[in-house]
Amino acid sequence: MIDSTIEKRRTVKPAEMNGQVIPDEMINHLLQLADWAPTHGRTEPWRFVVYGPDKIKQFAQEHANLYRDNTPQERFKQASFDNLQRVADGASHVVIAYMRRGSNPNIPEMEEIAATACAIQNLLLGATEKGISSFWSSGGMTLQPAMKTYLGLREEDKVLGLIYLGYSDQPAKDGKRTVPLSEKVKWMK
Ligand SMILES: Cc1cc2nc3c(=O)[nH]c(=O)nc-3n(C[C@H](O)[C@H](O)[C@H](O)COP(=O)(O)O)c2cc1C
Repeated sequence: MIDSTIEKRRTVKPAEMNGQVIPDEMINHLLQLADWAPTHGRTEPWRFVVYGPDKIKQFAQEHANLYRDNTPQERFKQASFDNLQRVADGASHVVIAYMRRGSNPNIPEMEEIAATACAIQNLLLGATEKGISSFWSSGGMTLQPAMKTYLGLREEDKVLGLIYLGYSDQPAKDGKRTVPLSEKVKWMK
């Protein structure tokens, strides 16, 4: 039932994941769900770069190196570098999700970003449904120009996040929302 899948989806950090490998076929299935997101103008701007179990450690190291090589010395923190090296430990796959800006000038950038976020949410909900834990991270170098260069993206493209996927032995934490829905909704009656 989609209601309970939506309510059950929780952010689970890779540190809580157990190293169990997700079959690539399952990742492909989740990406197919992502591909059903809505778009304005059928632009389908979502793009994914997938690092599986044989590449995830290399990605983590390269992510840490990106941080080291693009951070002014006075802001560099060894603990952050170490954390980036280790952050994927426990995860099975990392999916980098980005928006590839289309050429139709009538479609605002905001709508392309929104469509890509919808695709990511499809992926997260599909994962929840299959008992797969997920973490949407915009930390580290995710939003920095150096990440785009690393991925070979153009300036107008936008990285939305790193999606860490894996299994966890721990029960998902209770969800919480801090702003009451009544404050987010204005009913015109
Ligand atoms: C665009 C986006 C970026 C996020 N980036 C981070 C992040 O960098 N670090 C983090 O701990 N959580 C990140 N999150 C996850 C949120 O912290 C999480 O969704 C929020 O705490 C609500 O918890 P829930 O997902 O379990 O409902 C991100 C979520 C979104 C939608």
